[in-house]
Amino acid sequence: MTVTDDKTIVQNYFNNVGFDRWRRIYGDGEVNKVQLDIRTGHQQTVDTLLGWLQADGNLAGQRICDAGCGVGSLSIPMAKMGAIVHGSDISERMIQEARSRAQQELGEIPNLDFSVQDLEALRGQYDTVICLDVLIHYPDAQVPAMIQHLSSLAHSRLILSFAPWTVGYMLLKKVGDFFPGPSKATRAYLHRRFDIVDILESSGWHLNRTALTKTRFYFSYLMEAQR
Ligand SMILES: C[S@@+](CC[C@H](N)C(=O)[O-])C[C@H]1O[C@@H](n2cnc3c(N)ncnc32)[C@H](O)[C@@H]1O
Repeated sequence: MTVTDDKTIVQNYFNNVGFDRWRRIYGDGEVNKVQLDIRTGHQQTVDTLLGWLQADGNLAGQRICDAGCGVGSLSIPMAKMGAIVHGSDISERMIQEARSRAQQELGEIPNLDFSVQDLEALRGQYDTVICLDVLIHYPDAQVPAMIQHLSSLAHSRLILSFAPWTVGYMLLKKVGDFFPGPSKATRAYLHRRFDIVDILESSGWHLNRTALTKTRFYFSYLMEAQR
């Protein structure tokens, strides 16, 4: 499959059945047990990341790019904390939802904006670039170019998360538990930690902080790299 095919499939998924599924998971309404588990795990990843940003004590005024921002689960709290946030996503419906949630929570604020964009078409310079739980949509062969592009946008920090490849998770994925029910409309790609570290180091980064979030159906390895 070509890069364009993969992206079109992901984009269609997150504009249709995937939108409905993930909007619910990333919300606070009623969901099934598996979705609740994924919601809990994802929120833990978001909280860990917000904790890192807060601990550094310099979030206010930082220019942050949230690439593949979904419904704004991270962009909105970062903007609330005073960062200047640009969230973008390949799915128009995810961005519509992000805008509507931001409006409800924050009203019109000048330090948060959203755009519909493939992350590899993003331009500009940011203090920090964040790409949370998006690498799962990228096969190994496409990961280096994607990370190198995000690197080119980031002045001092790049934060990524991905589903780590381990034998256990590979089996779980194979038996189909990873994306429950009819949501198996996109492929889920797991990545090896050392592959991601290699790509980061060859792009001039060193690893600063890491965290693994693991619930029954959600697993995400968070990495913060600095220049
Ligand atoms: C699992 S969701 C994670 C959303 C958000 N980062 C979060 O953690 O709340 C993955 C998101 O990545 C977006 N996405 C996938 N490939 C993308 C690409 N090439 N460019 C921009 N967004 C992309 C999808 O549309 C979807 O909203």
